[in-house]
Amino acid sequence: MAGIKDVARRAGVSVGTVSNVINRPASVSPETRGRVQAAIAELGYVRSESARQLRAGSSRIVALLVLDMGNPFFVDIARGAERAARAAGLGVMVCNSDQSATEEAAYLSLFAEQRVLGVLVTPADPTGKSLEDFGRHGIPSVLVDRVASGATSCAVSVDDVHGGTLAVRHLVAAGHRSIAFVTGPPELRQIQDRRKGALAALQEAGLPPETLVEISTGRLDVAAGRDAGARLVGLVPRPTAVFCVNDLLALGVLQSLYAAGVKVPQDMAIVGYDDIEFAAAAAVPLTSVRQPAVLMGRMAAELLLEEAGYAGDGEHLHRGVMLQPELVVRASSILPH
Ligand code: RIB
Repeated sequence: MAGIKDVARRAGVSVGTVSNVINRPASVSPETRGRVQAAIAELGYVRSESARQLRAGSSRIVALLVLDMGNPFFVDIARGAERAARAAGLGVMVCNSDQSATEEAAYLSLFAEQRVLGVLVTPADPTGKSLEDFGRHGIPSVLVDRVASGATSCAVSVDDVHGGTLAVRHLVAAGHRSIAFVTGPPELRQIQDRRKGALAALQEAGLPPETLVEISTGRLDVAAGRDAGARLVGLVPRPTAVFCVNDLLALGVLQSLYAAGVKVPQDMAIVGYDDIEFAAAAAVPLTSVRQPAVLMGRMAAELLLEEAGYAGDGEHLHRGVMLQPELVVRASSILPH
């Protein structure tokens, strides 16, 4: 008796795609759908109804897997997702990969065992392997804060290249010609894009890439920011401005500058990224590139609910949504007149 894996192999697609053709045919392109249906006919594959019921499950829980539970950015993502899920009578369970690909894989296995309704995830694994394996369970997932790559799932992101450009364009316009760049793990796409945008701002101003003095960190939290700030204070010559790839790093840098008696913005202008609630509340209100995090979370949940058949008219095509960032200027980067 041919199984679903035989059909997938014959059609040259993943088991998840075969499952989608059976359970959510509209989510698969007509060409692929035709190949899978031909393979099913050729092999005489018959779906096990109990397996289908098991796969469909009756879970009403959506899993949200974030990179860093300590980052208020993800609290806002969760807030948006939870409201959208609640409106459909569902619940959201928030889990933390803590930037670990191993933790991500372990959680995805747990979600599959528990037959959650679907998964919203900001990937930690740059290879995408654990998400690819997870897709074979036929449980829908949506990438959050990640640009869509391929048509295997929906994705909601922000144009982080433009966000990096907004930050550095602002500092260049304020007259800075030596700008520290406190960056995070290079394997994260959102960090790569912010760096790309920062360099684009220099290029458009006719400034050399060396204008950006990179200070790399392994984490994206306040402690890593304090460490980066201490290194920034010790640079000779010292840059006159710093762009941090997120607000937690910027708040840590601010602490170290204060401890060293470096005045902000007089001696050092600072720009962060995310515009978390604490940015405006900082000792020196932080200029930041705002991400519409609550909207991101809501849109990601709505895409998942549509794919899972809880919203829309039963039709679903995978799509990537890219939102726009916005520069919010505060006291940390503008000299008082
Ligand atoms: O979690 C790391 C960072 O990536 C967050 O601060 C947010 O900027 C996200 O895009």
